[in-house]
Amino acid sequence: MRYRTLGNSGIEASVVGFGAWALGGWMWGGTDQNDPVGAIHAAIDHGINLLDTAPMYGYGHSESVVGEAIKGRRDKVVLATKCGLNWWSEEGEKFFDGDEQGRAQDEVKYKVYKNLRPKEIRHEVEQSLKRLQTDWIDLYQTHWQDPTTATEDAMAELVRLKQEGKIRAIGCSNATPDQMKRYLSVGELDTDQEQYSMLQRQHEPGNLAFCAENNIAFLAYSPLALGILSGKVDLNRKFNRGDVRLANPWYQPENRPKIDQLLKAIQAVAEEKRVTISQVVIAWTVSQPGCTHALVGARNGEQAMANAKAGEIELTPGELKALRSAVEATGA
Ligand SMILES: NC(=O)c1ccc[n+]([C@@H]2O[C@H](COP(=O)([O-])OP(=O)(O)OC[C@H]3O[C@@H](n4cnc5c(N)ncnc54)[C@H](OP(=O)(O)O)[C@@H]3O)[C@@H](O)[C@H]2O)c1
Repeated sequence: MRYRTLGNSGIEASVVGFGAWALGGWMWGGTDQNDPVGAIHAAIDHGINLLDTAPMYGYGHSESVVGEAIKGRRDKVVLATKCGLNWWSEEGEKFFDGDEQGRAQDEVKYKVYKNLRPKEIRHEVEQSLKRLQTDWIDLYQTHWQDPTTATEDAMAELVRLKQEGKIRAIGCSNATPDQMKRYLSVGELDTDQEQYSMLQRQHEPGNLAFCAENNIAFLAYSPLALGILSGKVDLNRKFNRGDVRLANPWYQPENRPKIDQLLKAIQAVAEEKRVTISQVVIAWTVSQPGCTHALVGARNGEQAMANAKAGEIELTPGELKALRSAVEATGA
């Protein structure tokens, strides 16, 4: 496993991180197929120290699972969680209506707001510390940006939490370069977490370039495009109610020929290197300019171990070139 520093924090985090969204089941069709503790233990045992979760993943469930799984292993882990999505107060900017499965379909159970008011950040950090069963969070990220709270107010609270030792580094997610500039002008920023994969490259000219120029670690989320880039998802795969993949354009039959073409090119590299398709995809992600880390979701130990091994793979300039042409040919 290779490790890279999170911005200016001095924290060394594995280039392959473990994303704990899917193991909470929320928006992923439930938890029946999951072995969350096995997945987290396998990840740590194979060199992954960066674990990313959020209160929003199952309304606290994912954080509680992570807290249980890291008991006795806290010192081996760079624990990252988030703040800024509230379902207990109707303040801030309305984001969406939710239920236990995902976005609300029949009955609205939770009204989710973007809210980075200082008092809510403080409330959230205390809740997260309890669920994670720890005294500190290594990386605390604003999950989505709240236009109803002044950046300096949110940042002032984050800096106070850092001074109090409750958090060690500050990051953002789902932010624009302008929003990052505002954070930097009133405080500090060590990481930016954004959607980035071979099929989602919208941040290449903006966030990735900005992060590289400003020594901000870029944490790519959904690097397997929610699993389709593993090569193991075919058109017969049935997704449960609430699963985020049901509405994703890359999972629709009309886009399958493009996916198959891309997977063929990745498979050629994978065969040459005697690794799997997912491993090539993850290695590609952390080889892109500005992209320092990939947060990969895994439901069980087998997936987590395979993903961790991608942190050792170096792609040659020729392989990177061939993959880039295949990626660009998808039109993504
Ligand atoms: N900041 C944000 O707003 C935000 C948004 C999204 C995600 N994230 C973070 O990024 C993390 C990763 O993204 P993600 O979970 O959305 O998507 P992802 O990493 O692209 O895909 C994860 C899914 O791919 C499949 N998979 C993983 N490893 C595999 C392997 N070795 N072989 C075959 N299939 C494999 C699994 O699904 P199946 O078993 O069902 O096929 C798994 O749940 C999240 O957990 C979360 O921490 C953050």
